[in-house]
Amino acid sequence: MSDAIVSVRDLSVRYKTREASVHAVDHVSFDLERGKVLALVGESGAGKTTVGMSLLRLLPPEAAILSGSVTFDGDDLVSLDDKKLRSVRGRRIAMIFQDPVSGLNPVINVGDQVAETLVSHLGINKKEAKRRAVTVLHDVGLSDPERIAKSYPFQLSGGMCQRVMIGIATALGPEVIVADEPTSALDVTIQAQILYQLDQLRHSRGTAILLITHDFGVVAQIADEVAVMYAGRVIETGASAEMLTRPLHPYSHALLGTLPRLDRDNGPLRAIPGTPPEMTAPPERCPFIPRCGKALNVCRAEPAPDLRQPERANHRVACYNPIWQG
Ligand SMILES: Nc1ncnc2c1ncn2[C@@H]1O[C@H](COP(=O)(O)OP(=O)(O)OP(=O)(O)O)[C@@H](O)[C@H]1O
Ligand SMILES: [Mg+2]
Repeated sequence: MSDAIVSVRDLSVRYKTREASVHAVDHVSFDLERGKVLALVGESGAGKTTVGMSLLRLLPPEAAILSGSVTFDGDDLVSLDDKKLRSVRGRRIAMIFQDPVSGLNPVINVGDQVAETLVSHLGINKKEAKRRAVTVLHDVGLSDPERIAKSYPFQLSGGMCQRVMIGIATALGPEVIVADEPTSALDVTIQAQILYQLDQLRHSRGTAILLITHDFGVVAQIADEVAVMYAGRVIETGASAEMLTRPLHPYSHALLGTLPRLDRDNGPLRAIPGTPPEMTAPPERCPFIPRCGKALNVCRAEPAPDLRQPERANHRVACYNPIWQG
């Protein structure tokens, strides 16, 4: 039985600006299970952040959720009233952004920033909150948390600021964390430490994590499940180990091919030739056809296939001609 804490069904999101209407997310469905890390991967513009923001209904005003539901603990977040939504956002579903420094207020010391979250959500007094803030900073692996609490963001490194952000996100014990490229601004060593921190969190507290990344190295380190997005759609989902070694969709193969290999010098990161379609007019056919070396007549004749389950358990792919190997 599925132990989903968040179920996204048939979610479609459009941005409407003066110039264009962008179909950023197109009928996306997935489940996020308690204590599990689901990685959402795909090239820039695939719609990953838009999906993440939809979970907290933090979309900008020009965005509209056209259809679908995001069920969290029995409530549909898409239609939840603002008061109820405020009790969920931050407290039960928290978000960690890519750029830790700009996520923090530059003129307030980090201890006070953590304390503010505690005061506003838990109703405890300021003194108690400040004391607890030091514990929060300690818990995310910052040594000398008393000193850190008195520091301003500019006095800390990017990795330290990201830990503070994780501290703020986790201080209230959320059931779900949406982490949007939480380590891409950090160097590899710090990245590993931050991932370890997130990993600890799901083990110790059962927090479910939606991890948005374009880095399969990150996926390999921490993800249980992977959902690959292309042009606003989820085109493949499966267990992380399976996805990394035996992906089925030609796009997933291409994406994995861009991973730099340490064991041989293959030059700079290879990009996948071609570009994704314009999302102003999403194609009815599979959006990957123009870049796909495996496209068949059926791909050009039929509407894009839905996610289907092949023989392998829990591995699903939206492709008429998946790549099978061993
Ligand atoms: N505020 C906006 N107004 C108009 N279009 C937008 C807006 N935000 C995003 N988009 C468009 O929606 C699509 C999906 O964007 P999104 O940011 O969700 O992608 P992403 O997968 O997170 O990309 P990245 O890896 O670069 O962060 C893109 O085509 C993007 O240009
Ligand atoms: Mg993004």
